[in-house]
Amino acid sequence: MKYIVANWKAHFDLKEMHNWIRAFSHMPLKKCEHHVEIILCPPSPFISLINESLYEPFIKIGVQDVSRFPQGTYTGEVAATSYDGLVDYAIVGHSERREHLKETDDIIMEKCERAFEASIEPILCVRDNKDLIHKKVNFVAYEPVGAIGNGDNMPLAEVIAMKKHLKLSPDQKFLYGGSVHPENAAEYLASDEIDGVLVGGSTLKPDELFDIALAART
Ligand code: PGA
Repeated sequence: MKYIVANWKAHFDLKEMHNWIRAFSHMPLKKCEHHVEIILCPPSPFISLINESLYEPFIKIGVQDVSRFPQGTYTGEVAATSYDGLVDYAIVGHSERREHLKETDDIIMEKCERAFEASIEPILCVRDNKDLIHKKVNFVAYEPVGAIGNGDNMPLAEVIAMKKHLKLSPDQKFLYGGSVHPENAAEYLASDEIDGVLVGGSTLKPDELFDIALAART
């Protein structure tokens, strides 16, 4: 089983989201059902729309962040417990949040805790082996900043070398993210060392996400 995480970041308005769902649901999705779990991570306002529109059991929903705070008086924050029952996963610690929102390892560890409390599986993104890894997380996504959003994906051998430095436990799943697209996805997904990919830009196009999922079959 390979995991394909689609991180749509702050893209899509409602019309675009409808168009994406319509196009994706016309793909022969059953072709990948035994090989992959696809985790769609839309902007939060579209979570319910996706839930109501896509029913395949191998398609799951993730949120792109959770609050470090529990439920309470934190205007504008969304507590992890508010997502309980709506999503299965939460991306935590993405480098864009570390950079633009100044999220530190401490904040990110708190977010992992909040996700666990809400029975949501955190997918912890790390930039390298200096970023802290919460012992209880089951999914670690290695996303080298220099490879994100620029077409300059990191060669497989270097990704595997970094995996060794991360010193994961045997149970922790290891994903790679950074300029994955249909042409290079198979290389990562064919490796026994890599449990899946976390993909941004390419997944904005439904056919590309489908092709990446298909690549997991090879
Ligand atoms: P990218 O983004 O696939 O567009 O490089 C990956 C990510 O930032 O999650």
